[in-house]
Amino acid sequence: MQGTTSEAIICTLIAARDRATEEIGPSHDIDFASKLVVYGSDQTHSTFRKACKLVGIRPSNIRLIPTTAKSNFALSPLDLQKAIEADVAAGLVPVYLCLTVGTTSTTAVDPVEQLVHIATDYDIWVHVDAAYAGSACICPEFRHYLDGIEHVDSLSLAPHKWLLSYLDCCCLWVRRPDLLVKSLSTNPEYLKNKLSESNSVVDYKDWQIGTGRRFRSLRLWLVLRSYGLGSLQAHIRSDVRLAQIFEGFVQSDGRFETVLPANFGLVCFRLRGFDSKRTEALNKELLEQVNSTGRVYITHTIAGGVYMLRFAVGSTLTEEHHVVAAWKVITESAETVLTKEPDRIVNL
Ligand SMILES: Cc1ncc(COP(=O)(O)O)c(C=O)c1O
Repeated sequence: MQGTTSEAIICTLIAARDRATEEIGPSHDIDFASKLVVYGSDQTHSTFRKACKLVGIRPSNIRLIPTTAKSNFALSPLDLQKAIEADVAAGLVPVYLCLTVGTTSTTAVDPVEQLVHIATDYDIWVHVDAAYAGSACICPEFRHYLDGIEHVDSLSLAPHKWLLSYLDCCCLWVRRPDLLVKSLSTNPEYLKNKLSESNSVVDYKDWQIGTGRRFRSLRLWLVLRSYGLGSLQAHIRSDVRLAQIFEGFVQSDGRFETVLPANFGLVCFRLRGFDSKRTEALNKELLEQVNSTGRVYITHTIAGGVYMLRFAVGSTLTEEHHVVAAWKVITESAETVLTKEPDRIVNL
């Protein structure tokens, strides 16, 4: 268990870097580190870039492959293949691929099964960041989002996002813990004891950045034991159902549109408009107006150049009447914003 997804990515990236350096880095090539290339999509969380910075991957060797609304912002296997082939042809060394199941902006899902097969052909470490949506996979109907997971090198998911746990709590699974240990272990005299010397215990200080660690597992264990699988599944399903209800409200009002089909507990929507600049300005204003009420808090993103608003259901106690009330605040705010633009024809 790690504190955050950021730590999970840093630790696995270090292990992948060292594996590549040890296995294929010629000892005389002191410049080998500058040849390592990593991959993700333009929707991969920004912490990936930060991790690369910390681990010493050159900024020019970070490939954030563009995605489009047409594929719901999922990473395209063909584009990944092309990027890897070009790098190999240029004498670079592909080392790590960060896939996402449930991106932060729009909850896009990279097709793990197809992508992992491409990556393993090149001996690339595949990490799946399922920080948010991984929790949904406790429900059989969402488990297909993880198809192909049995082939990856590591997977992280953060119960603090959607599994009724609070910060910080990130589960990391690694296929080869020995590679983590090899990269991250320290063995000072003052920490030596009979048990750690005997190799009969797992010394988690060698799986993480810090030496000391919190007892997060007790917290998660308590959540699992006190709610039980059925209640946790009911929590996820309820949030997804509430998001679908909200999506229905948006689609039944001609002034609004959903930008993407709702996945999980997030709905990406906006006020319709005729020219993109004014539509963006209008939606920015709506965001401010809604949040200024202090009753609902929505956020925004830009994906594929489109400014959109994000309605996320995920709080522990959210019920249908909260979503109904939120929609009322949003439509009332929209009326306020739209009356400032009398020349607009928005009642489509
Ligand atoms: C998909 C995804 N990855 C990574 C992160 C970063 O998580 P952390 O703050 O735990 O490092 C987030 C946070 O929003 C996320 O949604």
